[in-house]
Amino acid sequence: MKKLLITRRIAEPVLDQARDRFDVTLGDGALTEDQAAAALTAYDAILPTLGDAFTAKAFEEAGANPRCKILGNFGVGYNHIDATAAAAHGVIVTNTPDVLTDATADIGWTLILSTARRAGEGERMLRAGQWGGFGPKSMLGTHVTGKVLGVVGMGRIGQAVARRGHFGFGMEVLYYNRSPKAVDFPARQVDSLHELMGTADFVVVTVPGGAETTRLINAAALAAMKPTGIFVNIARGEVVDEAALIEVLEAGRIAGAGLDVYEKEPHVPERLRALENCVLLPHLGSATVETRQAMGQMALDNILAWDDGRDPPQRVN
Ligand code: DGY
Repeated sequence: MKKLLITRRIAEPVLDQARDRFDVTLGDGALTEDQAAAALTAYDAILPTLGDAFTAKAFEEAGANPRCKILGNFGVGYNHIDATAAAAHGVIVTNTPDVLTDATADIGWTLILSTARRAGEGERMLRAGQWGGFGPKSMLGTHVTGKVLGVVGMGRIGQAVARRGHFGFGMEVLYYNRSPKAVDFPARQVDSLHELMGTADFVVVTVPGGAETTRLINAAALAAMKPTGIFVNIARGEVVDEAALIEVLEAGRIAGAGLDVYEKEPHVPERLRALENCVLLPHLGSATVETRQAMGQMALDNILAWDDGRDPPQRVN
């Protein structure tokens, strides 16, 4: 039986299927670079996820022809895996697109609405026993319907966020995408990130992580936002200069932020946690029972395809 490492516990029905075919070892935490290197030499296949450090150095440490031949990643984002280094070492990398698009777009909307309507702040106040009752001017937020939604990155998740904005909230949708991208609902592609940041009432970042998008949202991009603007990140923490974001929020230069991802997860800076105008979620984008099961199934299906000698359908390298 081939040896499969699943680095974190996943849905039981998927685990059962994995155990029918492989000698499964179940991990319980993110792999460091050294642990990732060791795993590449000890297992035939690995089902890793966010935080497992399959860096170029890990592949180098594992040698030219490691025992592991496939990383069936649990997650659409695979910026924790150096897919180029993997290919150079003969390791296939796959991911889990599509199945988490709606769940992640829904979290984007959870953040838009809860930041605009001060839901986190209001709940904290109520739970602290400090609610003094209804008041015509108390806890006023900002209207969402009919405003301008700016989407950074018009991939699957960006489109799902934008569709909800157009069809559900009557918003004008603008988007910034590096390459020209046609969509099948009313939305306008703008030429520059600066234009998008400066025009939208709500900016939602949905680009993939990785070297090309690291700190795409820098101090200059944030400075272009309207003072009433709300910034939402459901992509990867490193896409945003977190220190610059904290500065504009502390200075009140934008109205608020809704974040699901952070530069050094699970660390969330104290200064960010202290801000009332932020809604902070613990990377919940794909966190529904249905979605996480579908992600596990897709990750395993890719590994099963490899084991059958077929080309894994969601191969990325
Ligand atoms: C992914 O799949 O990349 C997500 O970030 C997990 O929610």
